[in-house]
Amino acid sequence: MSEIRGFKSFFCLDGKVALVTGGSRGIGLHTATAFLLAGAKKVIITARKSGGEQGIDQAVERLNKLPGISGHAVGIQANVANTEEIEKLASGVKKSDGKLDILVANAGATWGGPFEPTPDWSSQKILDLNVRGVFNLVRLFAPLLETGGTIHDPSRVIIVSSVGGSGVPHVGENGTIMYSVSKAAAIHLAKNLAVELGPRNITTNAVSPGFFPSKLANGLIENLGGKDKLSADVPRGRLGEPEDIAGIMIYLCSPAGNYVNGVDIPVDGGRRLGIGPPRL
Ligand SMILES: NC(=O)c1ccc[n+]([C@@H]2O[C@H](COP(=O)([O-])OP(=O)(O)OC[C@H]3O[C@@H](n4cnc5c(N)ncnc54)[C@H](OP(=O)(O)O)[C@@H]3O)[C@@H](O)[C@H]2O)c1
Repeated sequence: MSEIRGFKSFFCLDGKVALVTGGSRGIGLHTATAFLLAGAKKVIITARKSGGEQGIDQAVERLNKLPGISGHAVGIQANVANTEEIEKLASGVKKSDGKLDILVANAGATWGGPFEPTPDWSSQKILDLNVRGVFNLVRLFAPLLETGGTIHDPSRVIIVSSVGGSGVPHVGENGTIMYSVSKAAAIHLAKNLAVELGPRNITTNAVSPGFFPSKLANGLIENLGGKDKLSADVPRGRLGEPEDIAGIMIYLCSPAGNYVNGVDIPVDGGRRLGIGPPRL
């Protein structure tokens, strides 16, 4: 037999401090929920809006009511496309916690439509948040992440990309060319950061979802024929669900994933492979 150290705490996040950008709804909220359920001590969620049905406050309130958790959630309003706001966020976390164990760069923007009328502002918005903002977020949090990491338990950076970052998912009327380009850049950024930050006891990986119903994705899901039609193209026969995000995030951020560095993991039920399920 082999000695496998700490097997009982694989998939546990006991004592960890995590920050999830765009944690007020959708994939970011699924991630924050999973972290608290896995034992995280503190989960900081950020977004631009604090009030309202989809703001940070309601998310924090719901997170803190999760049954059986020992940690808690806090919310901080920040636009993570804006470098000064990221600097403020990092100095706030330095003051309150002195370190960060897990950083999930999840907040993202998209824009869809035909190629030639694409307004220039939409490309700028996408690149500012999905690429430049993620680069600056990790750059400015690197010292705090370094403080949290060790050789056998590195700090973790997860960049939420998309399966659209490794293929050409939508052109024409519902084209998402600049989004797809930004997500390809996000995957390559994760690989570069894995090499840059690995020696500082920080791993970086990308998670690439397929379709998960959310505010960001619902418009495109409807334009492409709706959930049932899209589900039929997925070898696993359905769209993504919160548990699918929880599973991959816990794996990558817990002791189970501590030697994984610089990978891009698609979470799409196999849809990216381009053929639907067998039809008799
Ligand atoms: N859902 C999918 O099918 C899918 C598929 C592939 C990849 N993804 C990726 O997954 C990530 C999350 O998407 P989602 O579907 O969960 O979207 P969502 O439900 O619309 O949530 C987006 C989150 O990001 C926040 N946000 C947006 N712009 C921000 C900014 N400039 N600064 C700070 N926070 C900002 C939003 O809050 P505020 O509006 O209040 O700022 C919200 O919390 C994105 O990177 C997206 O590209 C999603």
